[in-house]
Amino acid sequence: MTRKPITNKQVTGNMTQNQMTANINRAEQYINTHQQAVTHSPMRQKYHFMGPCGWINDPNGLIYFRNKYHFFYQFNPYGPCWSEMYWGHATSDDLVHWHREPIALAPSEVYDDHPQGGCFSGSAIEKEGKLYLFYTGTANLGAGLEQSQNIAVSDDGIHFVKFAGNPVISAPADFRRDCFRDPKVWRHEDTYYLLCGASKNGRAAALLYRSDDLLHWKFFNVLMESHGEWGTMWECPDIFPIGGKWVFLCSPVGAGSRKTVYFTGDLDYERGVFLPECSDEIDWGYDFYAPQTLQDPQGRRILVGWANGWEWMPFWKDWGPTYRDGWTGSFSLPRMVSLNKLGKLSFSPIKELQSLRKESNHLKNLVVTARNEKTLKAGDGVCFELALTCDLSKSTASSFELLLRSNGEMATCCRFDLLRFALTIDRNKSDGWSTGICSGPLNLYKKNQLYIQIFSDQSSLELFINEGEEVYSLNIFAPENQNKLAIRSNNGTVVFSQVESFGMISTE
Ligand code: FRU
Repeated sequence: MTRKPITNKQVTGNMTQNQMTANINRAEQYINTHQQAVTHSPMRQKYHFMGPCGWINDPNGLIYFRNKYHFFYQFNPYGPCWSEMYWGHATSDDLVHWHREPIALAPSEVYDDHPQGGCFSGSAIEKEGKLYLFYTGTANLGAGLEQSQNIAVSDDGIHFVKFAGNPVISAPADFRRDCFRDPKVWRHEDTYYLLCGASKNGRAAALLYRSDDLLHWKFFNVLMESHGEWGTMWECPDIFPIGGKWVFLCSPVGAGSRKTVYFTGDLDYERGVFLPECSDEIDWGYDFYAPQTLQDPQGRRILVGWANGWEWMPFWKDWGPTYRDGWTGSFSLPRMVSLNKLGKLSFSPIKELQSLRKESNHLKNLVVTARNEKTLKAGDGVCFELALTCDLSKSTASSFELLLRSNGEMATCCRFDLLRFALTIDRNKSDGWSTGICSGPLNLYKKNQLYIQIFSDQSSLELFINEGEEVYSLNIFAPENQNKLAIRSNNGTVVFSQVESFGMISTE
C-alpha cells in the first residue's frame, strides 16, 4: 500500500459539513436553554464526569491531544433517554476538572442518520497534528440498522469534518450488518490498525483491519472470536500493550452476568491474531459498561467506563430516577491500569483525585466486635473518600459489613466475607428505588491485609479492593439525609489498623 498525504479537500465535502454544522448548532441551542434547569437536579454528581443535559452512555475517542485530555461520549442532547446519538465533547488538564466543548459529531449523512442510531461509539487518533475520530455510522436503508465505520477529522481538536470517502469499512458478507461497530484505531510501526466488534452465527468476534494512510482499509484477520463462551457480540473492543504483554478488552453481549472483560496475552502482528492467557472481569458492580482507555504523556494507561448498563443485562433494573430532572448517565472515575506478575490487571483510582480531598479524618487501630457496631466519619457522609486497612492476621470475624449512605433504616450494605473470599453489595434498601445484590470475588489468598478504598458521590459508589484488584461500581439514589456510615462485625472481631477519610471538593 502506498502512503499519500491527506489534503483537507479530500477529507471534507461541503454539503456534508453544512448539514452537520446545522445539526450541531441546533443541538447547542437546545443545550443552552435546558442545561440550567438540569444543574439544580439534586442527584447530579459532584465530582464525576456528566453531560450538560439529556442522555449519555459510552466514553468515546479518549485521547491526550495538544496538551489536553479529550473525552467524547455517546450523547442525546434532546432528552434523558437513548435515541439518535451525537458525540458530546469535553477537555481537561487533569482528568478531574472538565470543560464542556461544542458537540463534535452530529448525525447528518445517509450512512449515520438512523433515527434510532446516529453516530455510534468509536475512538480517536492523532496524525500529522490533526485529530481523527473513527465512529460507527448507523444507516436506515430499509434493511434494519446497517452499521459502517466512518472518519471525521479536525485541525483544532474541536471542530470536525466528515470524510468525503465515508463509509471506509462495511461489514464483511458473512457477518451481521447490524452488529458491526465501535472501531478502535491505533498505530504500530508504520501501519494503522483498526479493531471492530462483530457477530457471525450468533457468536462474537473482533475483526482486524490494516491501513497505510488511515483512510483506506483492508481486512486483515479475525483477531479473536467467541466459541460460545463469550457471548454473541463484543461491543467497544479496545487493545493496548502493557508491561511486555497485550490486553484485549470488550463488553460482551449475551455472556450472562459478565459485562466488561479483559484478556491479557500476546498479539501476533504477523498473523493478526490475539492469544489470550488470562481473563477476568474489569468491574463487578452493576453500573459499569463499555470502558475505553487512553495512554497519557506520563505513559499511564487510563480506563473510563459508562456508569450504567443496558436492559438486556440479567440484573438490570433501570437507569435511575434522574430522567425526571432531564438527565441520565455519568462516567466512572478514571482508573489507572497496571499488570501484575500473574498476568492480572488492576484498576486503581488515578492520583489526581487526591486534589479533591478536604476535611480529613484519621483513626488508628479500630477494633469492631460482634456486638458493637462502630460509626465512622467521612466528609458529609454523601461525597467522600474512605480508606480502610483491615488487619486480617488480627481479625477473627467470619465477615464484616460496611453500611454506606445509611439513616439507620435504609443503607447500602457491603458485606466482606472473609471465609468465602466474596464481596456482596446489597441495594435492596439503598434508596427505595434501586434493587439487587451484586456479588463477586474478594481475593484474600495469602494476604494479611485487606485494603478498601471507597469513593462515594451523590448517586454512585465505587469500591476499589487491594489497589483495584477487584472493583465494584454501582449507582444509588439515596436522599441527602442518608449520610451515616457504620461497620458491623459477624462471629468475631475485625481489626482495622488504619481508617482514613476525606470530604470531596465539588468540581461542578
Ligand atoms: C455500548 C453500545 C455500543 C454502541 C453504543 C450506542 O454501550 O451499545 O456498542 O456503539 O452503545 O450508543
